[in-house]
Order: sequence, then structure tokens, then C-alpha cells
Amino acid sequence: MGFKIAVAGATGNVGREMLNILAERDFPADEVIALASSRSLNTEVSFGDKTLKVKNLENYDFAGTDICLMSAGGAVSLKYSPAIGKQGCVVIDNSSAWRYDSEVPLIVPEVNPEAIAGYKKKNIIANPNCSTAQLVVALKPLHDFAKIKRVVVSTYQSVSGAGKDGMDELFNQTRAVFVADPIESKKFTKRIAFNVIPHIDSFMEDGYTKEEWKVLAETKKILDPAIRVTCTAVRVPVFIGHAESVNIEFEREITAEEARNILRDAPGCQVIDKHENGGYITPYECAGEDATFISRIREDATVENGLNMWVVSDNLRKGAALNAIQIAELMVNRGLLKSR
Ligand code: A2P
Repeated sequence: MGFKIAVAGATGNVGREMLNILAERDFPADEVIALASSRSLNTEVSFGDKTLKVKNLENYDFAGTDICLMSAGGAVSLKYSPAIGKQGCVVIDNSSAWRYDSEVPLIVPEVNPEAIAGYKKKNIIANPNCSTAQLVVALKPLHDFAKIKRVVVSTYQSVSGAGKDGMDELFNQTRAVFVADPIESKKFTKRIAFNVIPHIDSFMEDGYTKEEWKVLAETKKILDPAIRVTCTAVRVPVFIGHAESVNIEFEREITAEEARNILRDAPGCQVIDKHENGGYITPYECAGEDATFISRIREDATVENGLNMWVVSDNLRKGAALNAIQIAELMVNRGLLKSR
């Protein structure tokens, strides 16, 4: 017997992708429910070759639902997730609302599946930030081999990370440039078309942004609290796919060739690293793919035991929807979920 799954935020970028991936991977679901706000009541969303009518999250009764894949923003998750969890339905939440709560596991199945055991305290499991997910998938096998001391990461993040409004803004601004219309910026703080913006999420007291802080706090929670991480997060005019330039310092020596071979065999990783024109991956090519792609692996001669690499993944999939569904699969495979 299969499970009853609700997708909350089903009309959004990540929610739609969750429905696609549930269908693609043949998740053992008997019933899938699409939920969003009252604004979207009865609109239709695709689920495989079916369409689902959207119900209102506000008055949906979770008794009898096994998993809620939640991607409706932090405020909505803070409001609804505790009560959903108390009804016995496990929430796998894509927002940052629960990630730093010591009673909520933060999981990337290729990296720290064992942490799933802690989910029972609140019946909530957190999905990491999109930039963290792809980063830790690539770092974990290298950390196991040569122990990472420090990571310096610069991100190149697509507009889909800012939701469907972010994608619309890039499209509308690009069109406006070509037809010489005035450019309107609402979702982003400056024009994003033909530009890059070194600012994602709000500013913190120390001058870093919340997005930059998330990458270091989450890497520590998922991979190893001893690793030092610093980050610069940048929004770029790309629709789907985040890229990261990653500089790593290890405790022990590791050559570029060793790193390439380790990553070739690592779960969730795909190495595309030829020293020729086009012998690397770009965000455009990773859209719709599940893997975390690693290119441009080089030794960094300016530090002891240093490597540079380029890491790219579909932020809506491994960075959000796919990881959430892999967490649900992990629960099923470990027998943690009993159909109700
Ligand atoms: P709706 O379309 O009804 O506003 P994105 O991050 O791509 O912008 O998507 C956000 C998702 O979260 C949408 O599905 C949106 O639904 C949903 N959402 C936003 N606010 C609420 C709310 N108060 N209750 C339920 N769903 C919400």
C-alpha cells in the first residue's frame, strides 16, 4: 500500500517541480494532493499525465496524510508545520524556517542520511538552501578522503531561486531592454537583466547577507561543524541552475586527478572536466538534470593542499524538490514511514 502525499506550494516553482519528480520517480503514492493559498483554489497543476485541482492549505485536514512536502515560504511553514507534524504527518520543508532548529534534522541524503533519526521530535525535516545542497554533495567525498579545513565559495545563482516572480522579472526586463520600455525592478534590488547583483536575502549586522550565512551554517550542520566556510552569494541573469566557484583547503594532500576520480564515483556527482573548449558544464545545460556537476578541478598552488572547482546543479531539483523527495524516499526505504 502506498502513501498519501500533500504538496504545499504546488503552484510555485519548487512545488511544480516536486509534482514532476514524484511522478517521474514513481514515488509509492496512492494519492497526491496539491495545496496552495486561497488565491489558487481550484486552479489546475500537472502531476504526470494527470491534472490536480489545487486545494486551500488553510483548511486542509492532514489527518491521514503521511507526508507534506512544503514549499510555500518560511512564514507559511512556521505557521502550519508544527500543527501538521502534531497530526502525525511528516513535514519535509524547503524553507529556511526550521533548518537551524536543533530538534529538526537538515538532510542531504548523499551526505548525512543517518541524521534522519532525529525527525520524531517535531515530525519536521528541513531541506537545505539550494546553494548548500549542491556544495555539500561535492564536498562530502573529498572531505572523507583528505579532511576539509576551509572553503571559500562564490555563487552564481539563477533567478528561479527567487520564485516565479523572479523568473517573470528577468523575462520582463529582458523584453523591456529590447523594445526600449522602462525597466521595473520589484523582486530584485537592482536591474537583473544583463547585470549581476551581489545581494541575496537580507543584510546581517556583520555585512554578510543571510544567504551567505546560510551556506556556512548549513554546511557545518550537514557535513562537519569544524569546517570553516566563507561565501559571496550573487544573483545572475540565468533562469534555472546555480553555479559555484569553490576553493578548498584540505588537511592532507589531494591532487586534482585524485579529486576527479573520487568525484566520478561519488553518489549524486557527475564530473565533466575536459581541458578543451566547452569541456565543462554551465547552468543552462544542467536544467532538468538530477546530478551535481563538477568541472574545472585544479590544484591551487597558493595554499597548502588547495583545490579549485566549479560546481553546477539545477537549483529547483537537487537544490530543492529532488532533495525533498529523496528525503521522503529515505524514510520509506528505512521503514520510518507507515502508511496511515
Ligand atoms: P499561490 O500561488 O496560491 O500564491 P514561489 O516560491 O514560486 O513564488 O511559490 C510560492 C508557493 O507558495 C505558491 O504555490 C504559493 O501559492 C504558495 N503560498 C504562498 N503563500 C501561501 C499561503 N499563505 N498559504 C498557502 N500557500 C501559499
